[in-house]
Amino acid sequence: MSLKQPIGVFDSGYGGLTILKEIVKKLPQYDYLYLGDNARTPYGSRSFETVYQYTLQCVEKLFAMNCNLVIIACNTASAKALRTIQQVDLPKKYPDKRVLGVIRPTTEIVGKYSKTGHVGVLGTKGTVSSNSYPIEIEKFFPELNVYQEACPMWVPLVENNEYKSSAADYFIKKNLDNLFAKSDKIDTIILGCTHYPLLAEKIKKYIPENLTLLSQGEIVAESLADYLKRHPEMETKCTKGETIDFYTSDSVENFNEAASRFFGQEVKARHLGF
Ligand code: DGL
Repeated sequence: MSLKQPIGVFDSGYGGLTILKEIVKKLPQYDYLYLGDNARTPYGSRSFETVYQYTLQCVEKLFAMNCNLVIIACNTASAKALRTIQQVDLPKKYPDKRVLGVIRPTTEIVGKYSKTGHVGVLGTKGTVSSNSYPIEIEKFFPELNVYQEACPMWVPLVENNEYKSSAADYFIKKNLDNLFAKSDKIDTIILGCTHYPLLAEKIKKYIPENLTLLSQGEIVAESLADYLKRHPEMETKCTKGETIDFYTSDSVENFNEAASRFFGQEVKARHLGF
């Protein structure tokens, strides 16, 4: 039997499952290994150094479990750790492995959606303060005006299963009001956090009907399919057994219940200690 070489998908906790769900829909043929660092979540409020250390450790775990390609399915980790891992750690220690993030695929296409040239980005404090979205968007669409709003309460609302509550309405309205106060011409909003797709229905209540709301799952899945087409040397190193293995750094019982909500089907995880 040949060795399983899954595509690794990493997140600080549950959020990356909204990305994995779309990847598996688009590319069901591959083997996948998901790792949620629930023991140390959230990453959104942590320093650059801490997010980098945690992310590198998790990526190295996935490498050690035979993943040749890892998707960092977390905006905060993509914003704060991806560049150093790609530019410093991979060439030095893992020249044959690859790590991709979730910010670039979205910034590559956002300009196609906006007519007014005013784009909003919603994310964690960490993602917003890194300025990764404006910096990346500038490379592809320098004419766009980008307005950001950090939404620190949105992840806890989703994590605590309060995303359908009136408290969620309160915070969603508050942050969207803040965003539109920065520009009333915004016609496209990027949900720059893996948890936010679960809030999409509520968000739609507080935005104009013709505004485009971009969730990352499908965009990242499309971009991964394109990457694998352009990189046959990596594609052949991803085995096709249609399996998904889930790991969490925290308690399995807690993880399974919430993870099933994020993934849209039953999840049975194993524990991975550090
Ligand atoms: N997954 C993270 C993101 O996309 C949010 C959760 C956290 O703060 O750890 O930014």
